[in-house]
Amino acid sequence: MKKIEKSSLFLKEHLSLFQCPICQNPFTEVGQQQLICSHQHSFNLSKKGTVHFLMKPPHNEYDTEMLQSRRKIAQDQLWHPLLKAVFDIISNKEGTLLDVGCGEGSHIHHLFKMGLRGTQIGFDISKDAIQLAAAEYTEAFWCVADLAHSPFAAQKYDTILNILSPSNYMEFDRLMKEGGQLIKAVPGEHYLKEIRELSDQQTKPYSNEDVVNKFYEHFPDGERINVQYEHDLDKELIPDLLEMTPLGWRLGKEVKQKAINQPFTKITVDMVLLVGTK
Ligand SMILES: C[S@@+](CC[C@H](N)C(=O)[O-])C[C@H]1O[C@@H](n2cnc3c(N)ncnc32)[C@H](O)[C@@H]1O
Ligand SMILES: [Zn+2]
Repeated sequence: MKKIEKSSLFLKEHLSLFQCPICQNPFTEVGQQQLICSHQHSFNLSKKGTVHFLMKPPHNEYDTEMLQSRRKIAQDQLWHPLLKAVFDIISNKEGTLLDVGCGEGSHIHHLFKMGLRGTQIGFDISKDAIQLAAAEYTEAFWCVADLAHSPFAAQKYDTILNILSPSNYMEFDRLMKEGGQLIKAVPGEHYLKEIRELSDQQTKPYSNEDVVNKFYEHFPDGERINVQYEHDLDKELIPDLLEMTPLGWRLGKEVKQKAINQPFTKITVDMVLLVGTK
């Protein structure tokens, strides 16, 4: 079956998970190539089976080069211990999962390989990210959408993944089922510290305090789990590591070259997982 046919079938079977991002009404019709709401707003399915739900072009700093570097680093298993922790936290492993700001899609793919079942949807405001995701990973439904005008229906989601991506707690609350979980990953103080240490300028240590406080305003009983490890890094991947994160973009050319000439062999992943239950 072609990808577009598979997606059309998925949408027919899961239409109630979506709503029109323009008028918030339900979708009533799925054609071979279009999704149409009760007020006749329509959205096209692409050949790769993705749907583009944005009303205007986004402002986004993540380009294809950066996304491809993120993919290489993900395929080098940098996030595997983090994703193992996420997998263990997910209480409904057969539930409906939404990955908010999913990037190039490697996280859902790895969770699926670990045994996560159920319906999985990944969305990102970047069209390039969703193209990369849909080209490689077929177990999930992928769409281009903005968290601020989301095309998802209320109270249908068991798990919301929010890994290194923006949050909108009112929207999360609308989307989550009773008993559903929000799993948010934010950098800890030592996250990729080897990159920070490359900079000659004394930079202030990173603090996630504001982000963590905001989470607790919405989930006073939320849980916090620290995940910290070192990953053995292939020196060939140093340029991708510097490309995949804003921490690397800020470095000067000479500093980057120094890192390539004298590569570090370990990279620290320090993350805080914040888990909120509705
Ligand atoms: C640092 S990347 C993280 C990507 C992925 N979750 C990962 O861990 O590799 C942040 C992502 O959030 C996406 N993003 C930013 N604003 C968004 C919005 N309003 N709606 C959906 N995605 C958004 C970006 O396009 C980008 O892919
Ligand atoms: Zn509509």
